[in-house]
Amino acid sequence: MNLSITNFDSYQEKYQQSIKNPDQFWEVIASQFKWQKKWDKVCSWDFNQVDIKWFEGAKLNITENCLDRHLPQKANDIAIIWEPSEPGQPFIQLTYQQLYEQVCQTCSMLKELGIEKGDRVCLYMPMVPELLIAVLACARIGAVHTVVFGGFSANALAERIDDAGCKLLITTDGAKRGHKIIPFKQIVDEALALSKHIEKTLVYRHLGEKCAMQQGRDIWWHELSQNQPSEFIAVAMDAEDPLFILYTSGSTGKPKGVVHTCAGYMVWTAFTFQNVFQYKEGEVFWCSADIGWITGHSYLTYGPLLSGATTLMFEGIPTYPDASRFWQVIERHRVNIFYTAPTAIRSLMAHGTTLPEQFEMESLSVLGTVGEPINEEAWQWYFNYIGKRRCPIVDTWWQTETGGIMIAGLAGVTPQKPTFASYPLPGVQPILVNENGKEITEPSTNGYLCIKYPWPGMLRTTYGDHERCIQTYFSTFPGLYFTGDGAFRDELGMYRINGRVDDVINVSGHRFGTAEIENAINLHPNAIESAVVGYPHDIKGEGIYAYVIFEQNEINEEQLIHEIKDLVIKQIGKIAQPDYIQLVQGLPKTRSGKIMRRILRKIAAGQYDELGDTSTLLNPECIEFLKEGQKSLMTSS
Ligand code: WTA
Repeated sequence: MNLSITNFDSYQEKYQQSIKNPDQFWEVIASQFKWQKKWDKVCSWDFNQVDIKWFEGAKLNITENCLDRHLPQKANDIAIIWEPSEPGQPFIQLTYQQLYEQVCQTCSMLKELGIEKGDRVCLYMPMVPELLIAVLACARIGAVHTVVFGGFSANALAERIDDAGCKLLITTDGAKRGHKIIPFKQIVDEALALSKHIEKTLVYRHLGEKCAMQQGRDIWWHELSQNQPSEFIAVAMDAEDPLFILYTSGSTGKPKGVVHTCAGYMVWTAFTFQNVFQYKEGEVFWCSADIGWITGHSYLTYGPLLSGATTLMFEGIPTYPDASRFWQVIERHRVNIFYTAPTAIRSLMAHGTTLPEQFEMESLSVLGTVGEPINEEAWQWYFNYIGKRRCPIVDTWWQTETGGIMIAGLAGVTPQKPTFASYPLPGVQPILVNENGKEITEPSTNGYLCIKYPWPGMLRTTYGDHERCIQTYFSTFPGLYFTGDGAFRDELGMYRINGRVDDVINVSGHRFGTAEIENAINLHPNAIESAVVGYPHDIKGEGIYAYVIFEQNEINEEQLIHEIKDLVIKQIGKIAQPDYIQLVQGLPKTRSGKIMRRILRKIAAGQYDELGDTSTLLNPECIEFLKEGQKSLMTSS
């Protein structure tokens, strides 16, 4: 992709072009892809009804752009490097030709299982190459993939399967995560006992351990893959046909299925990948995110493959077998560009600099972060000890809903400033507004971060409930896409993202709605009411703090806390487990009965002197009890 942004001036020039004449700008970018039919119209949009179309009238298949398009020149180039969880085990490399063939074979398997264009397929798998292959096979056959992160529980999986109406589920027998074995198939069996839709499951044997197979429903991947042809004609998709659904948390209790469509998402992920990371042919790109999250979709899978890059997929975790594993992987595969989350940096930073110093990481040329604000200390550590002051850091702000990176530096091209995501990408028109939706134009101000013009990678709807999409993202400030984040813009126009301003908490870069966790807690027969808030956490960014009003019969409080934690694990997964549960008798409420979460957040953070005026509360007397309880929880932990 030739944007020729090589310095700050050309960035500014391209940015202006993208704003003044977006259609022309995107037409040039889009013309570099392989289309079965070109578009009639570049962009049409209406933010009130959320009717957004990019490249309408075009026909394409994203996998022809990820695979077929590269074969004439790159058949023998490495597309994927897979690094297993166990460090001693051999890694796998697949060339573009091999990946192409495996994707085509998998398409034939899907076809044999009755999958057709438009069907939804759920993928619940560890980070094995077959996950990436299955994602692409769905896209090639025109099925809508919905990947559910392996850390979610059977209940959460069942909820997502039912919401999307998935016909097929692809999983593995199990996987190792650090020292632990995760019984994927067993979790699937539990989920399928709760859910109605799945007709078949395809099971990839990864661990080789015994697992129950239900006759007529469960099929082994290795059996079905026998003798499948290595060609499969890509199904022609309309530009606005859905490509995938990815569930994410919002301020209500129910996760939303964010829908991305074929053409716009393709153009956006490739464009942002190449420009932000300044990817050069032959480089090894490593995004450490799981494919179960949007970052793994856009920057482990689609962005790199659309660009003919070598993408590294790591099955393991940063601290297994010890906290040098990331650095080992960088050395082993001569990684050039490394993209990870601030939480990982902070947890590895806690182990000091001697570990990274033991590895040869001269191959690194660009570093990236994503998922949460990065604090200055972590930024400096990453810059000094991993990048050795040679590598620019791109702090990339974006969301599941935006499909790809929105605000970030272009590595080595635009200026960087620690803790600032910096400038919007060409095509992105952010604005800050006050609580009345009025634009704030003064320099050096905070405001609610909104986007005022469509970009190709934006969400099109929330699956099965378009009204919810309108309400959640386009109604708070009419005419604008509201991100849910607060931001600061400095005198140079650089943005720093301050974090969520809604009831979403970001724990180690994972999003949870507080209502989602409260719903799980409230299922306990002794829980009368609960309120969940985030509090600052040194490693995780935010931790989860739950206040629970409970029925005071003869209950053992320790036991109750234990049962509540178990319920959250059962309903959502271990990843949403509260760090603290404070049993209380009352929660601060306004006279109209609304829980004052602002006060609860301050108490959870121990910031007692920032509570503000509490005298107008319905029940100001509860504050002292809440403070006492918080103090004793902190001292006992
Ligand atoms: C937060 C992840 C600060 C933000 C790609 C956003 C960030 C939410 C950054 C989306 C960043 C993401 N700096 N905050 N560089 N990147 N966030 O949907 O609050 O999992 O709204 O997408 O993460 O999380 P999601």
